[in-house]
Formats: sequence, C-alpha cells, structure tokens
Amino acid sequence: MKEIRLAVIPGDGIGKETVAAGKNVLDAVADVHGGFRFRYEQFDWSCEYYAKHGRMMPENGLDLLRPHDAIFLGAVGYPGVPDHISLWGLLIPIRRTFQQYINLRPVKLLPGVRTPLANRGPEDIDFFVVRENNEGEYSNMGGRLYEGQPNEIVVQNTVFTRLGVERVVRYAFELARKTGRKRVTSATKSNGINITMPYWDEIFWSLAKEYPDIEADQFHIDALVARFVTHPEHFDVVVGSNLFGDILSDLGPAIAGSIGIAPSANLNPEQKYPSMFEPVHGSAPDIAGKGIANPMGQIWCAAMMLEHLGFPEAGDLVMGAMKAALAKGISTPDIGGMSNTREVTATICDHLRRPVSKG
Ligand code: NAI
Ligand code: MG
Repeated sequence: MKEIRLAVIPGDGIGKETVAAGKNVLDAVADVHGGFRFRYEQFDWSCEYYAKHGRMMPENGLDLLRPHDAIFLGAVGYPGVPDHISLWGLLIPIRRTFQQYINLRPVKLLPGVRTPLANRGPEDIDFFVVRENNEGEYSNMGGRLYEGQPNEIVVQNTVFTRLGVERVVRYAFELARKTGRKRVTSATKSNGINITMPYWDEIFWSLAKEYPDIEADQFHIDALVARFVTHPEHFDVVVGSNLFGDILSDLGPAIAGSIGIAPSANLNPEQKYPSMFEPVHGSAPDIAGKGIANPMGQIWCAAMMLEHLGFPEAGDLVMGAMKAALAKGISTPDIGGMSNTREVTATICDHLRRPVSKG
C-alpha cells in the first residue's frame, strides 16, 4: 500500500470548506481502492496568517512543501490583503519553484449542469485549456521611474524562453495524443504583439510538424474568446501563454456551467517536484461560512491528483461518484441545486463507499 504524503493548504474563505470536503472524498476513495492511503500535513498559510505574521507563508515554507507527493490547495485571497500580495507571496512562488509549468484546466460540461450558452449540451463543451504557468506576461521584471511625476514611466516585461514555450506546446500535443483528441489550438496575438507572439507562433508551428496525426490551428485571442462562446465544439486542446491561458481558463468554466465546479492542476510533469491541485474559483468572501460552497471543483481536483499520482482508476471512481450526485440532482445553488456543501460531499462519499447503489 502506497502512503501518499499530501500537503494541504486550505487558505481563505470557502477554501477551508471545499478542502475539508475534498479530504473526505480522498479518504473515501482510499478506503474503497485499497492501494494507497493519505498522510496529510496541513498548513494554515492564508491572508489570516499574513495578518499575524506579515507574510503569506514562513520563510522556509517551500522547504516544508518539497518532500510531499502533491499539494492540495483551496483558495487564497481575502479582502484586506491586496491580491498581488497573496498571489506573489504564496501561489506564484510554489508554481515557479516547483517548476509547475503546466496549468491544466479541463472544460467539460457535465450532464446535469446547465450552460449559459443556448442549445448546447455536454457533447459540445469538452476540451482542455493548457496554460503556460511559469513565465510570459507574469514576470516580475520591470519597474517604475519618476513616481507621481508627469513624466512617470512604468514598464513590465514579457518573458518567453525557448525552453518555456517548447515544453508547454509539446505538452499540449502529447495531451491531445494521449486523450485521443484530434486538434490543438494555439492562442496568439501576433498581429499586435509583434515580437514575443510571432516567436510563440514559430515554435508552435515547428512542433506541430512533429505531430502529423494531430490537427493544429491558431486564433488571435480576441477572436478565440468569441469562438469559445459561438463554437465551443471546435476545441479539443487549447494552448496559451500565461495571460491568455488565464483568461481562457476562466471563460471556459463559465461556459461549462459554474466556476464552482472547475478544477485546475499545476503540474510538474517530470514529477521532480510536487504538483499542486486547486480549484479555479477563489475564496468567495460573499458566501464564505454559509456552508453552501460548491465542493465539486475541489473534488474534481482530487480526481486529477489521483490520476497524476498514478491511480487513474481511483480518479475515475471519484468522477463517477460526482456525476452520480449530479444525476440525482444533488448540487449546490450556484449550479441550480438546493443542497449544501455537506450534503453534496456526503452523497459523493456514500456513492464511493456503496457503488452498487448508484442512482
Ligand atoms: P471567486 O471565485 O472567489 O468568486 C466569484 C463568484 O463566484 C462569487 O460570487 C462566488 O460566490 C462564486 N463562487 C466561487 N466559487 C464558488 C463555489 N465553489 N461555490 C459557489 N459559488 C462560488 O472570485 P473573486 O470574488 O474574484 O475573488 C475572491 C478572492 O479570491 C480574491 O481575494 C481573489 O484574489 C481570490 N482568488 C483566489 C484564487 C486562487 O486561490 N487561485 C483564484 C481566484 C480568486
Ligand atoms: Mg484566473
């Protein structure tokens, strides 16, 4: 039996509620599967921690995370602490230090969830967004000169490296192959951003030649976002830079029903460092503490994590249980249901523990 060392960071707001739900599901699937169990180590790093200590995590925080097999995170950010502090103080150092250069976000309309797009069903909305997660537009390089003066200058550089672009584009093509998809679409803007984006395109098209079995195409980001809405069925795997991938991977979940159900994985594909699994949603201060947060984004993350750790069949069990809950109409108000977090989680755990009674 494999013992999986899991670092758990619930974070802020509903992160605490969804992570608790996710752990219940992880324990249930571990019991049923029998091939692994979890040893959790929980860290209280959050905006509350920041208020007490003046930083988002302790100085040796990354060293504390390093020995774990994976990181299971809820959401970080809360009113009172500027979002760039919470992001650059915790999430970004984790993503970069542990070379989590892929941010993978499945966009899949599950049966039982309503999409805001008219006349669309689960067969129309089923693709992956692959976001570059370590460089690009989210660079810390730049500065401000002559602050507050009329001649004030502000510069922030975009950084693309050959290594960085090649590995994310290659990942997208490999993912298409592995999942039996036919097309990889590149998000670009090489008309307006005329140095870095033509470079991105150049690498995309040169690697596309190595995958003759996969169709390749590209759209400028403005046209691409429109196409997500008008032709979601076009997409199988979409690859984009850090900024474009960020935007697409919020739009994707929006057309797939709710941000509350959308998962994401920050992957170090080589498994040299722990990967981090976190739902797309934030800490939702407006509903925090009410017990109505949708735990499905977090639970879907648990399924992705199990697959990454080499237990895809356990991931499938979790997804099956989640779909069964949706089929029974057990869901939270954000996707049209009437259940609370606890009821949804209990239904999913029951289904895992008694698979014969699936409804
Ligand atoms: P948010 O995702 O927290 O909330 C947006 C809206 O969606 C709210 O109306 C919320 O109630 C709803 N919602 C989100 N998750 C839900 C769930 N699981 N179930 C039901 N409803 C849900 O985004 P917002 O309000 O922009 O950000 C709030 C805080 O979270 C900010 O401090 C922000 O920086 C942080 N944040 C953190 C992220 C992370 O940890 N990766 C990602 C996005 C935001
Ligand atoms: Mg985002």
